[in-house]
Amino acid sequence: MGGLAEVRYIIASRPGLAGDVAPTAAAGHARHRLTELHARMILVTGGAGFIGSNFVLDWLAGTDEPVVNLDKLTYAGNVRNLDGLAGDARHRFVRGDIADQPLLESLLADHAVRAIVHFAAESHVDRSIHGPGDFVDTNIVGTFRLLEAARAYWSALPQASRDAFRFLHVSTDEVFGTLAAGDPPFSETNQYLPNSPYAASKAASDHLVRGYHHTYGLPVLTTNCSNNYGPWQFPEKLIPLIIANALAGKPLPIYGDGRQIRDWLYVGDHCSAIRHVLESGRAGEVYCVGGSSEKANIDVVQTLCGILDAERPRADGTPYASLITYVKDRPGHDRRYAIDARKITAELGWQPAETFETGMRRTVRWYLDHQDWVADVTSGGYRDWIAKHYGG
Ligand code: NAD
Ligand code: DAU
Repeated sequence: MGGLAEVRYIIASRPGLAGDVAPTAAAGHARHRLTELHARMILVTGGAGFIGSNFVLDWLAGTDEPVVNLDKLTYAGNVRNLDGLAGDARHRFVRGDIADQPLLESLLADHAVRAIVHFAAESHVDRSIHGPGDFVDTNIVGTFRLLEAARAYWSALPQASRDAFRFLHVSTDEVFGTLAAGDPPFSETNQYLPNSPYAASKAASDHLVRGYHHTYGLPVLTTNCSNNYGPWQFPEKLIPLIIANALAGKPLPIYGDGRQIRDWLYVGDHCSAIRHVLESGRAGEVYCVGGSSEKANIDVVQTLCGILDAERPRADGTPYASLITYVKDRPGHDRRYAIDARKITAELGWQPAETFETGMRRTVRWYLDHQDWVADVTSGGYRDWIAKHYGG
């Protein structure tokens, strides 16, 4: 497992920053060296979360352009997802909050950041129903602070760097609300009709991003993506929760009638869409991203049970589907999401590589091979590790 000795960390120059790790003269020299060495790099926020860590790993598998990775390490952030980058000088991890504007300004000043890819968010709808405050703080206020820091940094760049700079805001299809059975899928022109505190907070952040482009000219890009699944997804979301519960012999909770529809996309395909948009998207534009893979929740769960029956049959021979349990519905539960991804395909040539079937099989196998990860993030062992290495 990676630890402080193995992962390279940026040491912020300002005393008392959340990301500070034993500030030393050597650390200051290291920062200076980084600025000199790396003329181009990207700042990723939320790069220890599910999609962010997949993105950082994919990015550094495909390019040598370094990444500064800013993440608060909430319950959903797992820096150990990035253990594969231990000792890799192209990755610098900073623990900190996107709402900490002085930290953001210092990071941007210290690195030649040519783009920001903004994943950091509170992301779980059920949590937003029980406690919306963190969603307002991070998704709205945090995005505002990040935009302010980006605007100040970008405004002071030489013209060529200003033109090339990009702020890519990673958003969701949930901002568009819900679809009835026969409605056409969401596209870039849909009205915003968010239905949960999470969706409302993401909608607000999308509006701020748009406003910074139209008012200040900040070169922003926004992606609105459908439901992702794949490795390193925290087991509070449907697919990893069902896999974990099935393997533990626990009930598989289906909200309401289980006929709600989501458009599922393998996380690696979302990451490739973001790379396409970052590389070739037109500043100020919005791109909808989806898998053209609409499935009812109960069918997703039945598919997972079938794969598990084949890959890891239960000792008593009963099918995993016997654990399916219908439970009380989520308040305000959106009935159907679907994405029309023709714009990103036509303009940027993006297409998903995985089908629902291949992506689900890969995902189940990953969780079977990483049951220690699931046990760790759900047992408190991970929080203990953070407390030991970061002091809380
Ligand atoms: P996640 O909850 O797995 O990860 C979020 C990450 O952000 C975590 O590492 C967390 O520590 C970090 N974070 C939270 N608050 C922070 C703060 N104040 N400062 C710095 N870091 C903070 O989320 P995810 O599923 O990876 O989603 C990433 C982004 O993609 C979000 O913006 C989400 O709205 C969007 N999105 C997600 C999906 C999906 O299906 N998961 C689909 C479309 C869009
Ligand atoms: O559409 C994109 C969104 O997808 C992202 O913006 C969110 O960050 C992400 O969490 C996801 O939101 P959902 O609410 O669709 O995902 P979740 O995995 O929580 O639920 C998927 C569906 O499964 C939803 O209809 C609720 C249902 N569900 C979920 C859980 C956790 C159940 O039936 N049982 C469950 O236990």
